Amino acid sequence: MYDGPMPHPDTIPPKILRRIVPHVSEQHLDFGCGPGYWTYYIGHSRAESRIIGYDISEEKLCFARRRHGKDNILFTQSLEAIAHSGGFDSATLMFVLHEAGLSVMPCLRGLLSEGGRLFVIDYHLKGCGRRRFAEMFSTDPEMRELDAIGFEQAYAIHTSISLDDCIEAGEAAGFMTLERDILWNKYFMWVGEKKG
Ligand SMILES: C[S@@+](CC[C@H](N)C(=O)[O-])C[C@H]1O[C@@H](n2cnc3c(N)ncnc32)[C@H](O)[C@@H]1O
Repeated sequence: MYDGPMPHPDTIPPKILRRIVPHVSEQHLDFGCGPGYWTYYIGHSRAESRIIGYDISEEKLCFARRRHGKDNILFTQSLEAIAHSGGFDSATLMFVLHEAGLSVMPCLRGLLSEGGRLFVIDYHLKGCGRRRFAEMFSTDPEMRELDAIGFEQAYAIHTSISLDDCIEAGEAAGFMTLERDILWNKYFMWVGEKKG
């Protein structure tokens, strides 16, 4: 059973989420929701919205259902079920792109309705040296669970995708860039809108 760490409310993602929450629509998808901390934050902040948390890990979803269950949130592993839910007006991809890879962009486009917005947050670490990564690896609250995969694999995964790669893949998949930002020289944020 997944029993990951509980992030402190002052960790960086809530600060980022405060920028996203005002744009969360009635029907929102948190793709790669993991243990559901940020799904819950979004669902709690937008009680009138219906939030779907989707992930490939049943173990993390079990944890999410147990710890972060809420009337307006559904956690599921079924991509088919979410594909039939009628199209999302907004979606978040929080720290998922480096794991899922850029090929996930066309899938997100298919799940969003026309004009729907995709908010991508990920590490801004492409080209980062091993020394800087080692410092983050040992101190960053979002990386605490990575001990299990080891330093070398964590380094390879987290330094493989840049904001420019994200933009290129997003635009190639049919999104128009609305916003791009580097946050605290540590994360990037990209907001894309699905073109017709
Ligand atoms: C680093 S965790 C981030 C979890 C959560 N978004 C957060 O910020 O706490 C990455 C998550 O992406 C999920 N994931 C990776 N590839 C995926 C894919 N192709 N489809 C759905 N989920 C995926 C993993 O199972 C994992 O839970």
